[in-house]
Amino acid sequence: MSRINVNVDGIGRSDEVEPRLLLVHYLREKLGLVGTPIGCDTSNCGACTVLLDGRSVKSCSVLAVQADGATITTIQGLANGSWHPVQTAFKECHGLQCGYCTPGMVLSAVDLLAENPDPSDSEIREGLEGNICRCTGYQNIVKSVRHAADLIQEAGK
Ligand code: FES
Ligand code: FES
Repeated sequence: MSRINVNVDGIGRSDEVEPRLLLVHYLREKLGLVGTPIGCDTSNCGACTVLLDGRSVKSCSVLAVQADGATITTIQGLANGSWHPVQTAFKECHGLQCGYCTPGMVLSAVDLLAENPDPSDSEIREGLEGNICRCTGYQNIVKSVRHAADLIQEAGK
């Protein structure tokens, strides 16, 4: 067992974990943060995406011990009193249907917009290519991210 110290959604955690425990299993099983879904467990679908020190990662591709010392944001910690603009945009633009891919889509979009505040449609598609959606056909997801970029710019004015 190895001890890890992490900050998850604003709360400091200190836990003994098996060295082979995946971050997604740590979040879901140890911390009960089941808002981070598992879609494939093989690093393909992006459903399990979280922010690790602000950057999006597939939490089924990271060991919990590799996150030692990091700040992690899951979909459950993204709203800070009110929804994050990306969450608002997904709601307003109908960027989801079943919602299974949505936590990962939203967190990948947060990272994308932090890197590129005014992305083109093709840059959005490229930025989210690691996230699979089986329902929407992606059109409304792209629209949501574009709208989120506008909301963030307006909020910054
Ligand atoms: Fe992690 Fe699919 S569950 S990428
Ligand atoms: Fe169902 Fe994306 S909304 S998988």
